[in-house]
Amino acid sequence: MNSFPDGFRALILGASGGIGQAFVQSLQANPRCAQVVGLHRQSHPRLDFDDEASIGAAAEQLHATGKFHLIINAAGVLHTADFMPEKKLGDLSYAQLEATFRVNTFGPALVLRHFSALLDRQRGVLAVISAKVGSIEDNRLGGWYSYRASKAALNMLMKTAAIEVKRGNPQAVLVSLHPGTVTTGLSKPFKGDQIGRPARVAVQEMLETLNQLNPADTGAFVSYQGERLPW
Ligand SMILES: NC(=O)c1ccc[n+]([C@@H]2O[C@H](COP(=O)([O-])OP(=O)(O)OC[C@H]3O[C@@H](n4cnc5c(N)ncnc54)[C@H](OP(=O)(O)O)[C@@H]3O)[C@@H](O)[C@H]2O)c1
Repeated sequence: MNSFPDGFRALILGASGGIGQAFVQSLQANPRCAQVVGLHRQSHPRLDFDDEASIGAAAEQLHATGKFHLIINAAGVLHTADFMPEKKLGDLSYAQLEATFRVNTFGPALVLRHFSALLDRQRGVLAVISAKVGSIEDNRLGGWYSYRASKAALNMLMKTAAIEVKRGNPQAVLVSLHPGTVTTGLSKPFKGDQIGRPARVAVQEMLETLNQLNPADTGAFVSYQGERLPW
């Protein structure tokens, strides 16, 4: 993480998830990182994407603690007790579309609104964890309507925010980041424990990629290996 200043501060949103927890642990073990703050639905302050006001309130509370050099949103949803990803048009419902967009798109949009102002002005990277299945161009298999569309919309929000944030903070780097398949609760019903890699490994790869990013990369959709992904 040598592109970040010695004593850098990091903020992980969705810090209770498989990937979020691994980000917190990896950054805590990094001697250059002075502080890692992890927020989730049970933390103080609380961050719940089903409660819009909690997003601005959390940012407000952290504002007083100073700027962050690295902010990562690792919250997201693919399935819940109420639904699994759609296989066909006949599975589509407002309920699933709304629940998925709330966590994968609306929450992160409000994160961009409230947390981009917390980025350090010398070195500030804000990554939203997206997914390659949100790539419109790369969609060959179909299915997973809500999840795919929520991540495609997230990518548009990130790109639009990157253009605006750059005007006020030219050093800021905003990206959508594809983590690859990772063994977590989210991927478990889809053989994630067989085809995925441990979150610890995925997070090392993603941190190395984030370390390589510079202001010219703002607005990009990148994979954990640093390659540019098609929209
Ligand atoms: N795992 C993969 O293979 C994979 C592949 C591509 C992309 N991704 C993306 O990576 C990100 C992290 O996923 P993961 O694999 O770590 O999944 P995970 O272990 O299921 O973690 C999901 C996280 O999202 C949080 N969350 C869910 N609903 C929320 C809400 N309403 N408000 C705030 N937080 C909420 C969860 O909080 P609680 O602990 O409170 O439930 C948890 O922290 C997601 O955006 C996912 O789409 C994952």
